[in-house]
Amino acid sequence: MQPSLHCGRRAPHLGAFLFLALAAGLGRPTAAQTAPQLGKASLKEVLAALTPDEKVRLVIGVGFYPSGFPAGMLPPGPPGGDKEPEKVAGAAGRTHAVPRLGIPALTLSDGPAGVRIDPIRGKDSTKTYYATAFPVATLLASTWNTTMVRRVGVAFGSEVRDFGIDVLLAPGMNIHRNPLGGRNFEYYSEDPVVTGNIAAALVNGVESNGVGTSIKHFAVNNQEFNRMQLNSRVSERALREIYLRGFQLAVKKSQPWTVMSSYNKVNGTYTSQSPDLLTTLLRQEWGFKGLVMTDWYGGQDAVAQLKAGNDLLEPGTLMQYNAVTEALKSGQLTLAQLDQNVTRVLELVMKSPTFKGYKFSSQPALKANAAVARQAAAEGMVLLRNQGAALPLAASRKVALFGNTSYNLIAGGTGSGDVNRAYTISIAQGLSQAGFVANPALSQLYSQYVKAEKAKITKPKGLLDPAPVIAEMPLAADQLQPAEQAADVAIITLGRSAGEGGDRQVQDDFTLTAAEQMLLKQVSTAFHAQGKKVVVVLNVGGVTEVASWRDQADAILLAWQPGQEGGHAVADVLSGKVNPSGKLATTFPVSYADVPFSSNFPGKLLDASAKGGGLMGAPAENTYEEGIYVGYRYYNTFKVKPAYEFGYGLSYTTFTYGPLTVVRSPANDITARVSVTNSGKVAGKEVVQLYVSAPKGQLDKPESELKAFAKTNLLQPGQSQVITFKLKAADLASFNTATSSWVADAGTYIVKVGASSQAIKGQVALQLPKAIVTEKSRPLLVPQQPLTDLRVGQVAK
Ligand code: BGC
Repeated sequence: MQPSLHCGRRAPHLGAFLFLALAAGLGRPTAAQTAPQLGKASLKEVLAALTPDEKVRLVIGVGFYPSGFPAGMLPPGPPGGDKEPEKVAGAAGRTHAVPRLGIPALTLSDGPAGVRIDPIRGKDSTKTYYATAFPVATLLASTWNTTMVRRVGVAFGSEVRDFGIDVLLAPGMNIHRNPLGGRNFEYYSEDPVVTGNIAAALVNGVESNGVGTSIKHFAVNNQEFNRMQLNSRVSERALREIYLRGFQLAVKKSQPWTVMSSYNKVNGTYTSQSPDLLTTLLRQEWGFKGLVMTDWYGGQDAVAQLKAGNDLLEPGTLMQYNAVTEALKSGQLTLAQLDQNVTRVLELVMKSPTFKGYKFSSQPALKANAAVARQAAAEGMVLLRNQGAALPLAASRKVALFGNTSYNLIAGGTGSGDVNRAYTISIAQGLSQAGFVANPALSQLYSQYVKAEKAKITKPKGLLDPAPVIAEMPLAADQLQPAEQAADVAIITLGRSAGEGGDRQVQDDFTLTAAEQMLLKQVSTAFHAQGKKVVVVLNVGGVTEVASWRDQADAILLAWQPGQEGGHAVADVLSGKVNPSGKLATTFPVSYADVPFSSNFPGKLLDASAKGGGLMGAPAENTYEEGIYVGYRYYNTFKVKPAYEFGYGLSYTTFTYGPLTVVRSPANDITARVSVTNSGKVAGKEVVQLYVSAPKGQLDKPESELKAFAKTNLLQPGQSQVITFKLKAADLASFNTATSSWVADAGTYIVKVGASSQAIKGQVALQLPKAIVTEKSRPLLVPQQPLTDLRVGQVAK
């Protein structure tokens, strides 16, 4: 027993030194004694046996030593960290081991689209360690299929386990606040209900393998610009209803092993240093039971982080080690607090495959997992346009394939969300294997061009330098004409890449480049003149402008960044082997200027003369002036017509909806039911969406909000399925900042079932006779100065 360890809350300097000496000497078992072993002895005994220095190490990672990274560029790790044996090359983070107490080191690895580790280890290695690149998160959300996403999670998690990783640093679940967010591809949606449910499905799938996840980046990390010094200024209501809600749902539905705090500040405090966020909300109000880790080098004050409930500091630095050691000596950090953080680390260790002695093979079932990636990819693609039933293409069709990314598919985004995969199936390959014949002269032209342009790209300088997208190849009339004569249909693929370290630009990124516009114009003019169709495939990670050019295309397939099997999945959809059933989980606005307060993005530098940027950047702030009016909540309430609305997506078949019934029980359990029938000619799946318009009450309310969704089974022509949704009063509630409570106001609610947020198929009025306070909280994460959120009747800039 070490009573002195627990009584030194504000221990004076001398006392603390004494206690360190005691702990190092008396507290440690002699060689003759058997040291308590984790898992065999109680946690209390293990804690008591740990020296203060071991405890400090347990809450700080071993440092970051990525291969090929110049020494000295990254902050040094804690003493001896670089000597700790590495279990999996290229994994992003590790914890310390304490072998004498049976505590192994854990290995943590990115990222949201697949396990990110070094694929080749050492020059002589005959083995490779490529992982499956699954479709990006935005595509997974567009499936609206939690069963499918769980399946992806199960496959993904098997690779985490079989590559020897303990915790996957995913899923990413920040809100798509602005289309320019550089990491939007790693995130799901502009809506928290989609985000929370899809994230929970992935977490449950991954963790079914006995490995952990880390839902990230908690929270309000919606941009890359100045990300480590950015203060996101957000009202309490917008925080609760939009930016935290998805995390809350994911915690409730999947209780992930860990949460990763974000880089930014929220209302003046780093999230990793915020007791409001990490203790009061996450643990006390939401009941989170796991561990919180920092994002890599995130935050400023290691001691404040531990006190706030951020248990593990990754990847771990010497500075943090020194600061925590000093704070423990001075009593600024109590041993009781440190013990709490260490306990959470030990609890995590005990759950891990490493602790359980799992013998990993480094040979996951890549083939089977590729099949899952392909299926998910096809299921999340969104058919945006299909004039004159241009799609599906008949299998015998001869195609002319335009656009670099037809030959050089962008499987995913860059940065820590990228995956080292063995191969990427291009659209050209996918179509060819599906029996289409691409015009050979054109294919050769593009292949040569892409090869030459790729060779010109210098190797990225840093870990996070995005790979530039190759500029579109200019086409001369004599190059176009033979293709147009020989082919039945034109397919133009347009691609975009973005990733960690930078946000996107409006010009030539959100919008098409001049070369892309020219290509579209040339091809559509030539093919349409021959009565031939033009199909555009969008190989993008986020939202792009479509309104100005879509009329030139007969069909538009939003293929997103579909992972390594993307070319096959595109061919599956274009051929009709798979009937598209994805829908938008994020609005495509007509123009960037339609995004509320878009001109404020990505915020302003506090010192206008400073040089801002990605990664470290400079002190900056961004005020979330639109409040809760994010995405469709804005477009639908303020009547701004989008190019394609939230929830939108076409199919090769049609669906009809039966009457909607809504019943409220005396206990305020609400059941909504609708029958959906495939009224077309081919089998298909429908995404059924339940929206609610709430009475105004004391607060401004959005026109409607998504409350639940479901995807039908594959319905054969004529086949019906009854979809049942269950809601609680809490699902109807809004956050009233004045009383810090969630309230379902009394009055008339309109419950709507829709094929999108605007294609409403049926609605029923529901009365709530009395207001219900569904959750009571207290002011948390309060803005430093009062914020005036956008309200109905005002104009967003
Ligand atoms: C990213 C995280 C990632 C971590 C480890 C950070 O730069 O923001 O998402 O998990 O690095 O690679």
